Amino acid sequence: MKIFHIVGARPNFMKVAPVLSALKKRDHVVQTLIHTGQHYDVNMSDVFFQQLGIPEPDVNLAVGSGSHAKQTAEIMVRLEPVVVERQPDMVLVYGDVNSTVATVLVCAKLGVRVGHVEAGLRSFDRTMPEEINRLVTDQLADLLFTPSEDGDENLRREGVSAEKIFFVGNVMIDSLVHLLPSAQKSKVDGLPERYALVTLHRPANVDDSATLKGILESLLEVNRDLAVVFPAHPRTRKRIADFGLNASQLRVLDPLPYVDFLGLQSRATVVITDSGGIQEETTYLGVPCLTVRENTERPITVTMGTNVLVGRDPEKLRAELSRVLNGKAKKGTVPPLWDGHTGDRIADILVKR
Ligand code: UD1
Repeated sequence: MKIFHIVGARPNFMKVAPVLSALKKRDHVVQTLIHTGQHYDVNMSDVFFQQLGIPEPDVNLAVGSGSHAKQTAEIMVRLEPVVVERQPDMVLVYGDVNSTVATVLVCAKLGVRVGHVEAGLRSFDRTMPEEINRLVTDQLADLLFTPSEDGDENLRREGVSAEKIFFVGNVMIDSLVHLLPSAQKSKVDGLPERYALVTLHRPANVDDSATLKGILESLLEVNRDLAVVFPAHPRTRKRIADFGLNASQLRVLDPLPYVDFLGLQSRATVVITDSGGIQEETTYLGVPCLTVRENTERPITVTMGTNVLVGRDPEKLRAELSRVLNGKAKKGTVPPLWDGHTGDRIADILVKR
């Protein structure tokens, strides 16, 4: 069985690693890894491959950055001949990035079967580019691997037939479980004992100068009570510079490697983020998470986990932060099948096909 894995952006890498290694243990499976090149900086891509033990990609489409249409179209144009030439039996796509939707569009039209890992998540907010990617990907994919049962419900409601849907758990947690022991030993020099770990990169938060200014002002306020450690996505760093905003009192760092970032998360007093995956990682780790968004496609992190949506309301952020500082942070539990074995469950299903 010839299986392709297509990845492109940072959050894909911790999802592909467990599936690659689970399939490696199976007979008669030949795997090909394709990197679209959506993320290309060493600290957004190569370092993750090294730390997660992902082999060198067999093919790199080297598409780089661009508008959504340009990036998506470029991936499609460069991927199509590779799929036509190599004729995979199954193509696996991950998450909700432009590389995911571009691949599914190419494969669906070529009649090549696609499996979507992390299917069914919905924010119900179509202003998010990822929501468009999720909706299209799940309509076209043949196998849908969901991380939580709300995903199954969303898919059924959208008319996806039940036999395509497999509740397998959260594959990203496999990588976390695997690398947590090294993460706990890792150290980022020069940081205080107690800190708020911050990440921000959603276009809705960083692409508008007034919005980003408001969020940075809230973070400067947080910083008075608790040091803010802020590994900044290249997009965010660029926006802060372009808009001439002030983040000089915060500890702004370059994006960190997976293991170092996981170590920082596990020791953080609180995490403040607009990332999807970090809402899940903090839930697993039992670390309080304040999400700077009005909605989440990962509601289980709120209903079962440690996540609280604070939106962009400085009052709400202040109130939730003071709960954390007063030892009254929300407690959570780990959702079902977030157990480190999701890659194996996916591999079992694939080899039976
Ligand atoms: C993408 C995903 C988002 C995911 C995020 C994680 C889509 C629609 N978005 O957003 O879901 O949460 O990755 O990081 O696919 N850049 C660099 N170096 C890089 C990559 C990007 O400097 O290696 C800069 C460029 O200025 C680029 C910008 O970041 O224009 C945005 O990159 P892009 O891939 O378009 O989206 P992300 O914001 O990274």
